[in-house]
Amino acid sequence: MMKQYKNYIAGDWVPGSDYVPNVSPSDLDDVVGEFARGTEQDVVGATAAAREAYRSWREATPQQRFDVLDTAGGQILARRVELARLLAREEGKPVGEAVSEVVRAGQIFKFFAGEAVRSTGDVIASVRPNMTVEMTREPLGVVGLITPWNFPIAIPAWKIAPALAFGNTVVIKPADLVPACTWELVSILEQAGLPKGALNLVMGTGSVVGSALIQSPEVDAISFTGSVGVGRNIMVQCAQTHKRVQAEMGGKNPMVVLDDADLDTAVSACVNGAYFSTGQRCTASSRLIVTEGIHDRFVAAVQERLGTLHVGHALDDDTIIGPVVDQRQLDQDLSYISIAAEEGGQVIGGEVVECRTNGFYLSPALVTGTTNDMRINREEVFGPVASVVQVPNYDAALVAVNDTEFGLSAGICSTSLSRTSHFKRHARAGMVMVNAPTAGVDYHVAFGGTKGSSYGPREQGSYARDFYTTVKTTYVNPG
Ligand code: UN1
Repeated sequence: MMKQYKNYIAGDWVPGSDYVPNVSPSDLDDVVGEFARGTEQDVVGATAAAREAYRSWREATPQQRFDVLDTAGGQILARRVELARLLAREEGKPVGEAVSEVVRAGQIFKFFAGEAVRSTGDVIASVRPNMTVEMTREPLGVVGLITPWNFPIAIPAWKIAPALAFGNTVVIKPADLVPACTWELVSILEQAGLPKGALNLVMGTGSVVGSALIQSPEVDAISFTGSVGVGRNIMVQCAQTHKRVQAEMGGKNPMVVLDDADLDTAVSACVNGAYFSTGQRCTASSRLIVTEGIHDRFVAAVQERLGTLHVGHALDDDTIIGPVVDQRQLDQDLSYISIAAEEGGQVIGGEVVECRTNGFYLSPALVTGTTNDMRINREEVFGPVASVVQVPNYDAALVAVNDTEFGLSAGICSTSLSRTSHFKRHARAGMVMVNAPTAGVDYHVAFGGTKGSSYGPREQGSYARDFYTTVKTTYVNPG
């Protein structure tokens, strides 16, 4: 019989009233397992358990928190190959990229283990005589985490680890398409000695489990990564129910290639940024803004490189581009490719391809001859699709870069220090990449965007503390 994966509530593995199969996008005959579908009642149980566990977890010493997170990080790293294969199966990321993602998750736990013992505050002289003022950080309480399907282990890790490190307790709802990696993460944390109730897992749909979490009076804050539409809705609901909220949403990330760029560097950065992880990254380089002196050489070189990228099963060693995650996403990718063609773009690639198994395979698409006002350059596709906008010079490139509702990541390929320095200051984005893909970030520094891409404090690195803690100001008159 197929293994059934249960929810984890108050330290118990709780059977679902209903289970759904988790199917590999590389091979529709490969079922990873059957996963419990959570109910509103499960969320009530999970949030109550988290509230109860908060009383002791907030009092746990920094060393106790360090030990749990550090042990979990060590386990993730030790099991990297097995976890990467699971990730590749459920999400379709090629196994090499999946190993990197698992390693990233392990490193995140190790980093936040350290953050737990580095928690500092400020002591400052009062403006009044004989008074001192202390500013300390306290946990928020119960945090609800809602994670997307495109990074099945790294994103749950970068929300769970800081939440726990700073003394919060957690209820997590992973994306319905990829619950297996989060399930393993929760099981690793249980074995690492996390007290019952400190971390609860309720799998299921956004409309049932996600909504119940957002509406729950027991939840103090929500951290969400996913689509713009859902994110905006969550932001409104969190305001109404007085919750702190952090939302990481879409991108339409520009990558500028100037005439003076090193062509090889530019092609590698753009191909990696646009097409790796099948383009299914909110940081994907989807608008390639290229100056006219290099345009033709650049397009020819990208086209040539695309021909070398093997599209195939996520577990095959020679695969560079895995499948699209599901039928709905494949339809969306194909629809944007047709829209781009109807708008006058010339499409290279972007065809459904057959592989040795029945999956959602799409060859990478490059759309040339586009302008920045076309829909293909305004809306997030979230697939292996990038478009080229030709511009006369750097100034026009910068205008195009910032002419978007998004502001997550922005890149530039150039050998000019003055141009790249100007770009660093003037690109309106949370992250700027110089001669590097717009996607693929370090685990120990701030992650997040501006404008329509993000809402609330940054994730990751030491900056994660700004979301997962609140500041208390204490005045002391020693008498
Ligand atoms: C990366 O580019 O390495 O959902 C990370 C996403 C982002 C994470 C991107 N939140 O694609």
